[in-house]
Amino acid sequence: MKTILITGGTGQLGRSLRMMLGSKYTIISTARSKKLAEGDIFLDVTNSMLYKDILKITNPDLVINLAALTNVDLCEKKPDLAYSINVGGIESLVSVFDGPIIHISTDYVFDGKDGPNKETDTANPLNIYGSSKLASENLLLEKSKDSLVIRANVLYDYASGSSASFLNWVINSLEKEQEINVVNDQWSNPTWTSSLAIVIDRCIEKRLNGIIHWGDGDWINRFDFAIKIADVFNLKKSLIKPIETSELAQIATRPLKGGLDSRLAQNTLNLEPPTIEECLNTILGQQK
Ligand SMILES: NC(=O)c1ccc[n+]([C@@H]2O[C@H](COP(=O)([O-])OP(=O)(O)OC[C@H]3O[C@@H](n4cnc5c(N)ncnc54)[C@H](OP(=O)(O)O)[C@@H]3O)[C@@H](O)[C@H]2O)c1
Repeated sequence: MKTILITGGTGQLGRSLRMMLGSKYTIISTARSKKLAEGDIFLDVTNSMLYKDILKITNPDLVINLAALTNVDLCEKKPDLAYSINVGGIESLVSVFDGPIIHISTDYVFDGKDGPNKETDTANPLNIYGSSKLASENLLLEKSKDSLVIRANVLYDYASGSSASFLNWVINSLEKEQEINVVNDQWSNPTWTSSLAIVIDRCIEKRLNGIIHWGDGDWINRFDFAIKIADVFNLKKSLIKPIETSELAQIATRPLKGGLDSRLAQNTLNLEPPTIEECLNTILGQQK
C-alpha cells in the first residue's frame, strides 16, 4: 500500500488523518472549496468526469472517502444536494475505481431508540443525512467487497477553521462569555478525530472489510459533554444551559439514544477507546 487518496481531506477528520498517515503513505488529498496544502487537488465529488480523471492521474491503492454534506439540517432542506454528494460521490467512485475504499458513515443510520448500536442492529434513519449515508454504505458494500464502512459519531477536534466541531463551538462561545443551550437528551460517544484516525490506520494495516463501529470511551449526553469541556478548559460552566431537543425545533429529526457499541472494533484492532477527559487533556496540552 503506497498511495492513498483522501476525499474531503480538508475537513476536521481529514486534518487528523493526514497527520496520522502522512509519515507512512503518500497522501493525496482533495479539497472542495479551499486547499490546506499546496499539493491538494480540487474536486467536487458530484463532478463525475473530473473525479474519473483524478483517479486516473493519481492512481491510488486505496481511497478514503470523507467528502460529505455533514450539516444535518441543510441535508433536510436540500435532499437532492445531500444525495448527490453523500451517495453520488460513492457512485462515481465505485464506477471507476476497483481498489479498496474506506468510507466513513454515522450512527445517524439508526433511529436512536436503543443506542449505543452494534453492527448487527437494524438501521432505520430518521433524517435525510442518515438515509443518504445508509444508501452510500449499501451501494459501496454491494459494489466493492474489499471495502470498509466505519461508522462514527459526534467527531470533534479543536482545529481552527473547522465548523463541524462541537468542541470548537463550546470553547469559542464560552471564551466570549456567551451563554449556550445544549441538549441533555441526545446521547452518543463523542470521538476525537485523532482517535478515529488511529482506528482508520489499524483498519488499513489489517485490510478490514465490511462494517465496523467506533466511538470513544464515554457514552454521554451533549450537555454533560459540554460540562466536561468547560471543566478541562477551565471555562465558566454556568454559561451552559440544559435544553431538550424538542425545544430546539430543528429542521431534521435527531436520534436521541444514539452512539455506537465498538466492542467488535476494539477486539479486532486491539484498541482501547480513550476517555473524553484523556482526549480533551491531550488537546489542551497541544494548545500550550
Ligand atoms: N462530524 C461528525 O460528527 C461525524 C459523525 C459521524 C460521521 N461523520 C462522517 O465523517 C466524515 C468526515 O466528517 P468531518 O467531521 O470531517 O466533516 P467536515 O469537517 O464537514 O468535512 C467534510 C469534507 O467534505 C468536503 N466536501 C463537502 N462537499 C463536498 C463535495 N461536493 N465534493 C468534495 N468534497 C466535499 C468538505 O469540503 P468543504 O469544507 O470545502 O465543503 C470537507 O472537506 C463524513 O463522511 C461524515 O459524514 C462525521
